[in-house]
Amino acid sequence: MNPGRFITLEGGEGAGKSTQLRALAAALRAGGLEVVETREPGGSEGAEAIRAMLLTGGDDRWSPRAEALMFAAARADHIEKTIRPALARGAWVLSDRFLDSSRAYQGQGDLDDADILTLHALGSAGFLPDRTLFLQLPAEQAEARALIRDGTASDRIGGRDRDFHRAVAAAFVRFATTEPERIRTIDASGDAADVTGRLLAALADLLP
Ligand code: TYD
Repeated sequence: MNPGRFITLEGGEGAGKSTQLRALAAALRAGGLEVVETREPGGSEGAEAIRAMLLTGGDDRWSPRAEALMFAAARADHIEKTIRPALARGAWVLSDRFLDSSRAYQGQGDLDDADILTLHALGSAGFLPDRTLFLQLPAEQAEARALIRDGTASDRIGGRDRDFHRAVAAAFVRFATTEPERIRTIDASGDAADVTGRLLAALADLLP
């Protein structure tokens, strides 16, 4: 049996992660792999319940610390109930967002990157993807796409201001620079099929 692989797609709002995840899953399935498509926050019954609490309500519904703990709790359930069982049967698991989103979104305010990694060590024994694909778009393009998609601000977190989202984008760039083996930066601009091709190329060495 081929080993299962855990692949995550990361990036800011409007980078096209969800569309690309579907296209990537279809391409891998065409190659004969079993593929599980999932997302964070969510991806298991418990984690989807936490998602609803995280993404709805007013700005101040959760403190930054409570929010970070809830993302970590959702992730622990997602890994245990969905990701590990799929990997154990040899499937490829593609997740729309994972730990690096918590590092980028929750790890630069009251908490820092080391705090988020500590929560992940406690909640999920530090479990990491085999590869992370960081979809990068110039800020102006990402902002334009996010507006087209959402009309206005999206959810509790997506609706934060431009400075916040620029800091998130900068954090992803930092992670990709410090962990080049796990995290590959993918140019998310241009034709969608070309982007899918770049994603596949960044997984070539993991394919059976
Ligand atoms: P989602 O609808 O999946 O947004 P997108 O289409 O932009 O991926 O909502 C997820 C939101 O939650 C998004 O604004 C990013 C945020 N988020 C965090 O702040 N921390 C996390 O750990 C994760 C997984 C998501």
